[in-house]
Amino acid sequence: MISQNTIQQIQSRIDIIDIVGTFVKLKKRGANYIGNCPFHNEKSPSFTVSPVKEIYKCFGCGRSGNSIGFLMEHEKYSYVEALRWLAQKYNVEIEETETTPEQKLHQQAADSLYIINNFAQQFFSDVLLNTEEGRDIGLSYLKERGFREDVIKKFQLGFNPEARDSFTKAALAAQYNLELLQKSGLVTVRDERPQDNYRGRIIFPIHNQSGKVLGFGARILKTNDKAPKYINTPENDIYVKSKVLYGSYFARQAIDKADECLLVEGYTDVVSLHQAGIENVVASGGTALTPDQLRLIKKYTNNLTIIYDGDGAGIKAALRGLDLALEESLNVRLVLIPDKEDPDSYVNKVGASAFVDFIAANKKDFILFQLENSLKDAGNDSTKKSAVVNQIAETISKINKTEDFTKQQDYIKQASQLLKIEEEGLHALVNKFLRDKITKEENRIGRENANDAFLKSEQPFEIEDDALFLLNKDEQYERAMVRSILEFGLNEWNEDQKVADHVFAEIDNNQLEELIDNKSLITILNTYKAWYNAGMEPTPKTFLYDENLEMAALVLSIMDFSVEISHNWARVYEGKIHTREELYKEEVFSTLNYLKLRKIKRLIDENQRDLEKAQTDEEQLVLLQTHQHLKQMEIELTKQVGMVIFR
Ligand code: UTP
Ligand code: MN
Repeated sequence: MISQNTIQQIQSRIDIIDIVGTFVKLKKRGANYIGNCPFHNEKSPSFTVSPVKEIYKCFGCGRSGNSIGFLMEHEKYSYVEALRWLAQKYNVEIEETETTPEQKLHQQAADSLYIINNFAQQFFSDVLLNTEEGRDIGLSYLKERGFREDVIKKFQLGFNPEARDSFTKAALAAQYNLELLQKSGLVTVRDERPQDNYRGRIIFPIHNQSGKVLGFGARILKTNDKAPKYINTPENDIYVKSKVLYGSYFARQAIDKADECLLVEGYTDVVSLHQAGIENVVASGGTALTPDQLRLIKKYTNNLTIIYDGDGAGIKAALRGLDLALEESLNVRLVLIPDKEDPDSYVNKVGASAFVDFIAANKKDFILFQLENSLKDAGNDSTKKSAVVNQIAETISKINKTEDFTKQQDYIKQASQLLKIEEEGLHALVNKFLRDKITKEENRIGRENANDAFLKSEQPFEIEDDALFLLNKDEQYERAMVRSILEFGLNEWNEDQKVADHVFAEIDNNQLEELIDNKSLITILNTYKAWYNAGMEPTPKTFLYDENLEMAALVLSIMDFSVEISHNWARVYEGKIHTREELYKEEVFSTLNYLKLRKIKRLIDENQRDLEKAQTDEEQLVLLQTHQHLKQMEIELTKQVGMVIFR
């Protein structure tokens, strides 16, 4: 350990301008220095360093921190490595401290626990394989479930006899200390008598990265409502659940080779998949992934695939804490096993190669999966929907490393399509979350000087309203279009046509479903058209008294929604304020054009996606031509929409 004294010496010599200046070209600007941010691409400098505050901050990407944080971020140093780098730069001699008595004690306990666990593992394996009780009860159970003996041996599975204290007796006879035996979780003392904790259970040893046994999971054989299915090692000097992934010792090479880590829930899932030849698999024990576990995975791969049963509670647990995976640049995918099976039972049912195929075919991106699911849950509830928009914006804002920029853009695009909201709007919301996070971070760093202008960014903002607005914006345009025909459909469009004639001709050219998403609004338009074509003269009132009450209610709410004349019109008409009745043609024209433009934008996106997948040159050429054609239409429509009516 680097001594406190050394750390203080280093800290007293830190010059943030000097340190950051080693990596970034800085220019003085007032009290601060600015430069191009090293963490994201930019042309004009928004990266600011304050020598007084001893912090840096980028107003573009939001990165901020102190000198040590800069080294950790920029050079990917650990804290200690950053200190060593600084010590060398400033010629500070590093003084290492002696280990404290406390640390020594911890080290001794850890060593003893490893030894005890090793003894116990051998004892349990021996019982399972070489005693009558072990073979008749434990081994036959495992064999019945389809586990082969070579795999049982590889994972060092074992059996703890039914008797009260078989293991305890053996351990005490071998001179192991009772206190440590209790600490290991193998022995408990009941009525002042020590006894085995895992009586009559199958034993799954849990190994660390180098194959030493950290602890055990002990599975009951019969179903028993009173006893827990598994008893696990309690937290002690070596077993810290949040740092352990079951199977990682056996999986590390395969993970490296496949450049992918499969994550399952249970011990038996890991063993079964191994047996099927799928070795890049670890288990979390059904709880949310912790930062330490993610770091463990990230050492080997950036690709994490979670394989859980479809309806289990486990999946919810697994999804929690995954925002962290995004911050760590992990690509997280998800596969749900169907029909109430888990990976263990499913691989046994369909066989190894079908299992592998299933995984490959059913991998879903975790973020989009989460979005689709919460959208389904939210249904038509707009409060819930706006919560979903906020949630996804926040999640996407966590993908924030420079190298992940394209990934983030991609998610914004795909999520806005799923949500049917404007891409730019979602983008803005994501940025707000980013800024919000920075502000919070600053408040943490800023402590004493919270009102320093340098540390203050935006005004507080109302994210909730933004999401609601975003969510409704497109629908408002749809409603506005429907309203204009309800209100002005019978007005004159030109000498030969009424507004209704014009609008329905336009709609026929464009396909109603491609212009309007809301199914109820489509029904209103179709109803209007049917009535109109039958020679009726429909007005909003016609709908209000219709027997279709749902439609009546919707028309009412559409008519109720207040429409403001945009200030733009004052400009167009040189200051004279007109009423909507006077400007109905413009209103009809603009609302319809907005929807046409939206349709073109969607077609461009779709074409773009096809283009990315194009196989042949000819295919590509056709798609490129389509692209140009659509772009041209977009430009023309945009010119016309330029004078939108609504604010
Ligand atoms: P499961 O109930 O899915 O167990 O719990 P499993 O491993 O698939 O076992 P089988 O196939 O039914 O025999 C998943 C994981 O959750 C933890 C264990 O780590 C288990 O492997 N768990 C479950 C416990 O820690 N305690 C329990 O009581 C139950
Ligand atoms: Mn299972």
